[in-house]
Amino acid sequence: MWSPLLIFAIVIIASTAEWHEEFGPWVIATKGEVWPIPKTRTVKDHFYILRPGFTIHTVRRNCDILKDAAERYSAIILAEARTARQEAEGRRRKLIRNNPLCKGTLQRLEIRMHTPCNENGQHWPSLSMNESYALHIKESSTIAVLEAPTVWGALRGLETFSQILMPSGDGPTLIVKCQTILDEPKLPHRGLLLDTARHYFPLHDILLILDAMSYNKLNVLHWHIVDDNSFPYQSIRYPELSTKGSFHPSMVYTPKDVQKVVNYARLRGIRVIPEFDTPGHTKSWGESHPELLTPCYDPATGKPNGHLGPMNPINPKVYTFLRSLFTEIVSVFPERYIHLGGDEVRFNCWASNPSILRYMEAHNMSHDFATLETAFVFNLLDILNSLDASTIVWQEVFDNGVPLPPTTAVHVWTGFWMFELAKATKAGHPVLLSACWYLDHVAGGGDWQKFYNCDPLGFPGSTEMMDLMLGGEACMWGEFVDKNNVHSRIWPRASATAERLWSWAPVDLENASKRLEEHVCRMNRRGIPAQPPNGPGFCVT
Ligand code: ACM
Repeated sequence: MWSPLLIFAIVIIASTAEWHEEFGPWVIATKGEVWPIPKTRTVKDHFYILRPGFTIHTVRRNCDILKDAAERYSAIILAEARTARQEAEGRRRKLIRNNPLCKGTLQRLEIRMHTPCNENGQHWPSLSMNESYALHIKESSTIAVLEAPTVWGALRGLETFSQILMPSGDGPTLIVKCQTILDEPKLPHRGLLLDTARHYFPLHDILLILDAMSYNKLNVLHWHIVDDNSFPYQSIRYPELSTKGSFHPSMVYTPKDVQKVVNYARLRGIRVIPEFDTPGHTKSWGESHPELLTPCYDPATGKPNGHLGPMNPINPKVYTFLRSLFTEIVSVFPERYIHLGGDEVRFNCWASNPSILRYMEAHNMSHDFATLETAFVFNLLDILNSLDASTIVWQEVFDNGVPLPPTTAVHVWTGFWMFELAKATKAGHPVLLSACWYLDHVAGGGDWQKFYNCDPLGFPGSTEMMDLMLGGEACMWGEFVDKNNVHSRIWPRASATAERLWSWAPVDLENASKRLEEHVCRMNRRGIPAQPPNGPGFCVT
């Protein structure tokens, strides 16, 4: 007899058992494939050998961005050659020179840019930068050519060139097949949000994240720099914000640190968009400036309960302070766009405060707190407009009906995102998508496919509406990550987002799995502790 208890026990055991056999045999990594996949690529059978004397040259034009990139990629190529030697060790050596398809030794890679980039330290990546490039490795020439209209395309092309190299199987040499690649991104804003307020990340880790972003052709670091829990941004005008609002005196980003991040990103063609989220998510501001926040009241006693809520929208000093702080922010960050946040404003504290209720009554707002928030954001937008900045807001600001300038981008992160994208673009706003790319939402196994299956253009709308899709961001919220696990949480899951934002190719999960297997090993070799994407496997590093 099967007793219900026995059946229950079997069901529980079966549902918690692990079926390790599911994950074998392993996914075989590709060799010399590109991530994210280029727009067009024609590969021939013939190939060249790259020897240690191989160099990267720039024709006529030069600048700090190109010089730095040539050095970086020369070092990467040298390291790849070392790995090639390791990979060949213990295996039967293939004498590559004797292969009839070998066209000899590739002398160098020549970068030919159509526009100059010699304004040292002046040349900044932007939303409208041209990242297209063409790469030619011809059977008829021992010189590979990378052509690009701008330095930004040259950077993307260098990354691609570094990825198409393969171990020769014949000691410390690499080979590259004759081929032509014509490439450009599908969408211009391809970002990663990093939240440095729930946990602090040492500068070194932020720079490593920027390195990894460049390996994935991501071009925006959305720096969610402060929040309720800490205020690590060291302000020049208001240093007390971080003195009192950071987790620890060692856990701040000084003006020098911020410059380091911004410059390091620039050399990789990455924009740094700061987010100073208001009026909610501002508890840490209150450690040094409690007057900016709303005193909450106890409804039973009618007295302040000692807690502070969102920024106080009826205090004119709040706007004076914000004008002064944002004046600093737009001068510290060269980027034109500033993210103003505006998400998750809880109204209960405002609703408890008698002064706010009186103000709302006097201004005919009845009990509509969304209207009060609208008034706050409206004032803030006015400040940013007067500072000549462009703005991004989380979707709630749009949903609450704030009259936004047409250029303000709406960042969609929750709910029925396809309809939200349709609604915002129909109203004429540029949009960014993150709803399907929350890296803090972890599923078991290799859940990169969940991110890969999300199509940023998969919303209902006209061509004009699609044209307003700027791109999106993978979001690394910081509650459960710090320097110990952030890299493996981001990579290669954000690589899936990167490919969907860059590439035009239709989804082919089997092909993507094999290329991602190679790309993860590549990132590992370059010092990025990305996690294995597909179950069992190995990397020679
Ligand atoms: C958000 O996740 N609150 C933007």
